[in-house]
Amino acid sequence: MTQPAADPPPHSPQASQVVMTELVLPADTNNYGHIFGGRVLALADKCAAMAAMRHCRLPVVTASFDRVDFLRPVMAGMIVILSGVVNATFRTSLEVGVTVVAEDPVTGQRAQACRALVTLGAIDASGRSVPVPPLEPQTDEERQRAERARQRREIRLRQRS
Ligand SMILES: CC(C)(COP(=O)(O)OP(=O)(O)OC[C@H]1O[C@@H](n2cnc3c(N)ncnc32)[C@H](O)[C@@H]1OP(=O)(O)O)[C@@H](O)C(=O)NCCC(=O)NCCS
Repeated sequence: MTQPAADPPPHSPQASQVVMTELVLPADTNNYGHIFGGRVLALADKCAAMAAMRHCRLPVVTASFDRVDFLRPVMAGMIVILSGVVNATFRTSLEVGVTVVAEDPVTGQRAQACRALVTLGAIDASGRSVPVPPLEPQTDEERQRAERARQRREIRLRQRS
């Protein structure tokens, strides 16, 4: 495997954005026919990890899920579209925001079903934490997202200690 650059350049949030589309099958659902929360979390984790790896070009591990909101049930037969975007980078970790939208495949109607904030850490081949490339927000919205993520990190670290 090629080694990452020693001093990697910053990347925009758009450069690592991930969009994942899945069909909700009966095996993904509970006895009410709604998708399991745990299944949504697994998909959100995968989506966040891909965005983080694209940004860092390094292996990453999930350090925390610190905010998950399930906004509406999603039934078997629906399509779910997950979007993962790097909100902010720190020293060896980064925050990825994941949104999950449910789409009715027949009507095409879409509604947000879940959102989650995931912090992942970059590691080397020995599992040691390594610095992540900086994020370079391009738009006002991206700059605001980064600022809000930095504020959340302060709270997260305070709560952790
Ligand atoms: C995440 C992990 C790499 C952190 O390693 P560590 O030895 O605690 O190292 P550090 O304390 O230096 O933390 C490394 C980075 O992770 C961040 N971090 C660690 N725990 C965190 C938490 N609970 N929430 C948010 N960030 C966290 C730290 O702030 C630090 O980031 P920074 O350098 O940008 O400030 C380590 O705890 C680990 O491997 N956990 C298991 C990961 C895993 O298996 N995930 C899958 C779950 S099934």
